[in-house]
Amino acid sequence: MSTGGNGKSVSPVLEGMIGSGTAMTDVYRLTRQVAATSATVLLMGETGTGKELVARALHELSPRASGPFIRVNCGALSESLLESELFGHVKGAFTSAHENRTGRFEAAHGGTIFLDEINSMSYTLQVKLLRVLQEQEFERVGDTKTVRVDCRIVAATNRDLLDEIDADRFREDLYYRLNVVPIYLPPLRDRSEDIESLVIFFAKKYAAANGRPIPRIPSDVISMLQAYSWPGNVRELQNYIERATVLCTSETLTMDLFPPHVRGLAPVRISRAKSGGIQKMCSELVTLGLMEAGDDAQDIHEKIVSLVEKEVLLQVLRTCQGTQTKAAVRLGINRNTLHKKIEDYSLQSEAR
Ligand SMILES: Nc1ncnc2c1ncn2[C@@H]1O[C@H](COP(=O)(O)OP(=O)(O)OP(=O)(O)O)[C@@H](O)[C@H]1O
Ligand SMILES: [Mg+2]
Repeated sequence: MSTGGNGKSVSPVLEGMIGSGTAMTDVYRLTRQVAATSATVLLMGETGTGKELVARALHELSPRASGPFIRVNCGALSESLLESELFGHVKGAFTSAHENRTGRFEAAHGGTIFLDEINSMSYTLQVKLLRVLQEQEFERVGDTKTVRVDCRIVAATNRDLLDEIDADRFREDLYYRLNVVPIYLPPLRDRSEDIESLVIFFAKKYAAANGRPIPRIPSDVISMLQAYSWPGNVRELQNYIERATVLCTSETLTMDLFPPHVRGLAPVRISRAKSGGIQKMCSELVTLGLMEAGDDAQDIHEKIVSLVEKEVLLQVLRTCQGTQTKAAVRLGINRNTLHKKIEDYSLQSEAR
């Protein structure tokens, strides 16, 4: 809590957002500070961390609040549909363009446009977006007339854009234009101090929505939830509290109302994309004769860790074209450590 000029206490928490631990307090402070300006904001953070809530708060707290807030999910549309969605088109621009259509940038005039999942935008569209950021102008698809707009751009990504730049999927010039004010939403596992207030908030919300009494939440349930890793962050917590509140038949929210992996009784489910990599690695270990069914868990762990480490070193060395100083900075390790690892893994041919 801070104290306003009139002596009244001013809560820094943003409307609709729960959690007053240090990590989130920084997010709230930064959001309030930049909301007043027209600066482009880049919201970064894992899925379910609250990027959309912050985007809406940036609009609501800005001088543009009475203007429109337009959200576009750049990951949900193909390149050509997204282009026409954002910039509009004129009749006849393509086969199905039967009418003139204004795009979302024009709809956001005087307000805020929220470009969600910006990392999914194609390279070609990124060029057009760069121009909007630099000149506030563009042409509708199939038109030669230039349209000028006044809208504030807020973008969000749940991927590290620096990795996307390395993989040639994201333009570096666009990244610097978007990244005027970055706001990083920390994952829930790094703010376990917020779990209790989030649980109480969601329990009240879903009890009210289902006409149930607000359940009591014992401290061992809170501790259990604080120990879980929350790969889906606040969205995942919200879903499990809704489920537990609906299934609860007594006045207390008990442990058995949560799935086994949340209670630490089963492995955390890994998304298919991630588990594919681990399964592939295990079968590779078996093929290489490095792993057998009866292997000691510790051995398997060490083998997998070295295999992953070698792969990471290889990728980073390649990205840095073998320059060890650059690779060490990227990996966050010192140059001597990197040198030793290069020798251990016989990666000399990849390193300069
Ligand atoms: N601090 C918070 N307090 C209350 N609810 C929250 C908070 N953070 C997130 N939520 C809720 O969690 C859900 C996910 O939040 P949001 O959609 O903003 O996440 P996101 O970062 O945009 O996720 P994604 O990358 O998957 O789009 C929403 O229902 C939102 O209301
Ligand atoms: Mg979102």
